[in-house]
Amino acid sequence: MGDFDGLVALVTGGGSGIGRSTAELLSSRGARVAVLDLAAEGLPEEMFFVRADVTDDHGVRDAVEAVVTRFGGIDVLVNNAGIGAQGDVAAATDEEWHRVFDVNVIGMARVARACLTHLRNSHFAAIVNTGSIAATAGLPQRAVYSASKGAVHALTRALAADHVREGIRVNAVAPGTADTPWVRRLLDSAQDPEAERAALEARQPHGRLVTADEIAGAIAYLASPLSGSTTGTVLAVDGGMDGL
Ligand code: NAI
Repeated sequence: MGDFDGLVALVTGGGSGIGRSTAELLSSRGARVAVLDLAAEGLPEEMFFVRADVTDDHGVRDAVEAVVTRFGGIDVLVNNAGIGAQGDVAAATDEEWHRVFDVNVIGMARVARACLTHLRNSHFAAIVNTGSIAATAGLPQRAVYSASKGAVHALTRALAADHVREGIRVNAVAPGTADTPWVRRLLDSAQDPEAERAALEARQPHGRLVTADEIAGAIAYLASPLSGSTTGTVLAVDGGMDGL
């Protein structure tokens, strides 16, 4: 028996990293889990994979309907798919701005839009968006990405305000740098990966990278009945990086 028994969760970006950990945790706590991603290697059999790109509105709608056909509804949406971008404003092209916002911000709005009818039909509806500490910390060389995550935090509050009276709660997590395939790719491309990892660890007051499981735990809390009176919040999971 788990606190997600009888609930259906859709996790975008569930093929890797934070999304994969979240999908596994929700499944272990009783949810029937669908993963929306471009690809998802080695997904456990009990999870339903829907291949879609969050920048493709038709693809997103079809994927959401496939989940509803399979599981009968959607109670929990974890809006987690995202991409990174490095550099300052001087270096960022318009194409890069459009691409990152299309995935990280409009992508979340598209999936939420496609799920709304189903969430309204749920007796316990929750959306959790993956924001980032980059939205508030003022990190160097992350201009486009940080702006996109600031928009995710704002979108979280706007969605929460628009849908609170329909019984849909909307919250976000703001992770610090986490040990996921994404960050490992970044480290692999650095000139001195070990020094780069040490610098990232030192940036967080608790002296290490955040784990994907710790972020999944925060997402599960915000998605669960335990947080039934919490909406419009952004929960930092960053080892004290923001505000200490
Ligand atoms: P990851 O790269 O390991 O996983 C991201 C997943 O999103 C991948 O499976 C990828 O295929 C999917 N995805 C990317 N673009 C997509 C698209 N257009 N349509 C559908 N799926 C798409 O990355 P990670 O680290 O697990 O990141 C997940 C989320 O957490 C992202 O939103 C990221 O911005 C956020 N985040 C990550 C942090 C980190 O240090 N790793 C820190 C703060 C936030």
